[in-house]
Amino acid sequence: MRVTAVLLVLVKLCVAQDNECGVVQMTQWAGQANLRTDPLHNPVDLVIIQHSVYGACTTDEDCEKTVRGIREYHINKRGFTDIGASFLVGGNSKVYEGAGWSLVGAHTRQYNNRSIGISFLGDFRKTLPTTEVLQATLDLISCGVSHNFVAQNYRLIGHKQVVKTESPGTKLQKEIETWSHWVENV
Ligand SMILES: *[C@@H]1O[C@H](CO)[C@@H](O)[C@H](O)[C@H]1NC(C)=O
Repeated sequence: MRVTAVLLVLVKLCVAQDNECGVVQMTQWAGQANLRTDPLHNPVDLVIIQHSVYGACTTDEDCEKTVRGIREYHINKRGFTDIGASFLVGGNSKVYEGAGWSLVGAHTRQYNNRSIGISFLGDFRKTLPTTEVLQATLDLISCGVSHNFVAQNYRLIGHKQVVKTESPGTKLQKEIETWSHWVENV
């Protein structure tokens, strides 16, 4: 009986992850669904890369703690409806759901209603995320394209290209400028 229950939960988790590109759902890491409601018109054709500066993490436990902390900060201190980014990528190569594919987040003023904002947890001014973390991000975007959440010919930019900020950090910005979908001007 107990084994069956555990198996059912496992099967359910796997199915949910397959449908959502292997993303750790907010219901899993926050124990609550996203409080946002503004629908994002899919497919979006713009992906914006950012870094969180604080909250670098490498273990599942620390990364969950970080995303919970960012969410609490955004809701309680910044007055946001919910966590700002569409997705957050940890040093453990796991992707955490924020506003997700189909809800308007609060990551890049004037671009929120037409883009996905992906935030790398940590400070990437002088160091790069690992190859695995970068690959997890590219896999996320590819999965978004295959589910038609993101347009096939999407353009990708760094946060600093449209907002006065250092984000996503000099080093990470240089890296994404080598990615095939990167564009200089939106
Ligand atoms: C996004 O919001 C701006 C300003 O309110 C509006 O002009 C634009 O049409 C919106 N874009 C989409 C894709 O909804």
